[in-house]
Amino acid sequence: MTAARLFLWIFSARRALLGALLSLAVGVAACELAIPWLLQEAVDVALGHGAPSSLNRIGGMMIAVICGLYVVHCLLLRVEARVLYEGIFRLRQRLYTHLLSQPLAFFSRKRTGELVHRVVSDTSVFEDNAVYLFSDLPFELLTGAGVVTLMALTDVRLAVIVVFFLMVASLVSAYVGRPLPTLRKSLQTVGAAFTARLQEALSGIRTVKSFGRERHEIARLDEENRRFLDLDLKEGRVEAFLLPVFDLMELLGVVLVVWYGAHLMIENRITAGGLVAFLAYMEILAGPVSRADSYYRHFQHCRAVSERLASFLSESEVLPARPAPMLPAGAATEPSSIIFDQVSLTYPGSERPAIDRVSLAIRPGEMVAIVGRNGAGKSTLMDLLLRFYDPTSGRIVIGGSDLRTWDVDQWRETVGIMTQEVFLFHATIEENIAYGRLAASAAEIEACSLEAGLGGLLKRLPTGLQTVVGDRGNRLSGGERQRIALARLFLKNPKVLILDEPTTHLDGEALRDVAQTMVRLSAGRTTFLIAHRPEIICLASRVVLLDNGRVVAEGTHEALFASEPLYASLLASWARDRTRRKREGGEVAGAGVA
Ligand SMILES: Nc1ncnc2c1ncn2[C@@H]1O[C@H](COP(=O)(O)OP(=O)(O)OP(=O)(O)O)[C@@H](O)[C@H]1O
Ligand SMILES: [Mg+2]
Repeated sequence: MTAARLFLWIFSARRALLGALLSLAVGVAACELAIPWLLQEAVDVALGHGAPSSLNRIGGMMIAVICGLYVVHCLLLRVEARVLYEGIFRLRQRLYTHLLSQPLAFFSRKRTGELVHRVVSDTSVFEDNAVYLFSDLPFELLTGAGVVTLMALTDVRLAVIVVFFLMVASLVSAYVGRPLPTLRKSLQTVGAAFTARLQEALSGIRTVKSFGRERHEIARLDEENRRFLDLDLKEGRVEAFLLPVFDLMELLGVVLVVWYGAHLMIENRITAGGLVAFLAYMEILAGPVSRADSYYRHFQHCRAVSERLASFLSESEVLPARPAPMLPAGAATEPSSIIFDQVSLTYPGSERPAIDRVSLAIRPGEMVAIVGRNGAGKSTLMDLLLRFYDPTSGRIVIGGSDLRTWDVDQWRETVGIMTQEVFLFHATIEENIAYGRLAASAAEIEACSLEAGLGGLLKRLPTGLQTVVGDRGNRLSGGERQRIALARLFLKNPKVLILDEPTTHLDGEALRDVAQTMVRLSAGRTTFLIAHRPEIICLASRVVLLDNGRVVAEGTHEALFASEPLYASLLASWARDRTRRKREGGEVAGAGVA
């Protein structure tokens, strides 16, 4: 997509309104041009070139034209606002729709702040500049063309002098203002980097404060801020030259017209009214011409930001869909068998596969524990199952069909996932649970919250389910957030369940509670359980040991413990870690996590 096509797309939705806009612009231009013409008539009548009685008629016409101008101008502004703001609405909508439709791989390459900046700030820069192109440009162009025609009809040489001077002024301005578009574009890029940095510092505020790194973050923000300052100052220097140039040229033009026009009057080749009208036309023309360079700049800003937005919209990551999806009948409602068939995945830019020829067959309703050290590929394997990525080679077969032939949305409806870091929205507990099934009733939500062990918490909170959980759920403890995530899954009622280290932050009673809830939740569902603790791993009927992306061993917990030295040593080292952390007082039952 090019910038020009994007621009046309933004404003093409309301073609009828664009037609109305043009007609109203013609009306405004006509009214503006009628006034100097009537002025000329009035002056000439006063100087004896007509019947004095016609003066009242001319005065009345002037008032009528001025009232007409007011009405047409109001209408013009209303139509303009509609075309412009509806266009901006469509642009914003297209940007966030594009953004949210990207697969996960897209977001691992981007900074959130930069993406937010694109949707919020780039559109507002576009709007700020497009408003000038819409609000004045059409009728100023028409008025300009009309004025030049009327001036040429009055006296060609005078018209040539005026137009020549105004054109020279515009060319000088355009020359002086050449660096502005590039500066503007750089300002937008710097703005995006600044937003990203600020956003990162704020979302990691606990880490920043716990390391006492406020000054460090402020210094990094200062760096970006200074880049803003440098660009702003450069822009200011260019504008300081630019703005007075035009006033200078305009005044010179007036002097020349009066000088030469007075000679023409003495030679009786123009009436006094004609010269007055000429000066009035020139005044009208000076407006649009003096603003020509600023229109040009607004146009350039629009172009710069449209280019950025167009390239952003062209940039996308697509999961290659297989043609002719063949969703097996009833597959979405039955917990089906899941087969990993020689599945490998190498992340873009990485040399080593994160998943290496994994073959696994999981029976419907089975609970499988996936165990392995950090970076073994456990979460990646689950990302493949959710189709956040497609395998580089091999295939995942669900209910007899390659996952790539499934409808992605329908498949994800079938799967429920809970991870170590539970994400809650800044909303009530009820709304956060309802995220599992938006159409759920209040009674269903309450039942699921009790099922997930939230009863105690809800009793303690004066507003119960209506309590707002804070940004990312920061007003709740880690264990409480986990229970809300479990309630969400009860409500979603998925056929396949992925529990990726859901109990990492828990210990003691809280751990036992959540483990019991997990057992209830997983009943009758095909479940993948990624865990570190033997008491959780034991819940699974089979354990798969993953290392360097490969399946090293499979079997029951007891069998692996007896036969696999790697498995036994992993469990032992995790147990040592936990004991050490407990001794250091780092782990509190069910407590919040930084
Ligand atoms: N988006 C990504 N881009 C590139 N490499 C990645 C990406 N995500 C993970 N990796 C790499 O893939 C490998 C497997 O990571 P994965 O997150 O699956 O490990 P894990 O077994 O879940 O580890 P942990 O126990 O720490 O959660 C790691 O080497 C990791 O660095
Ligand atoms: Mg992981």
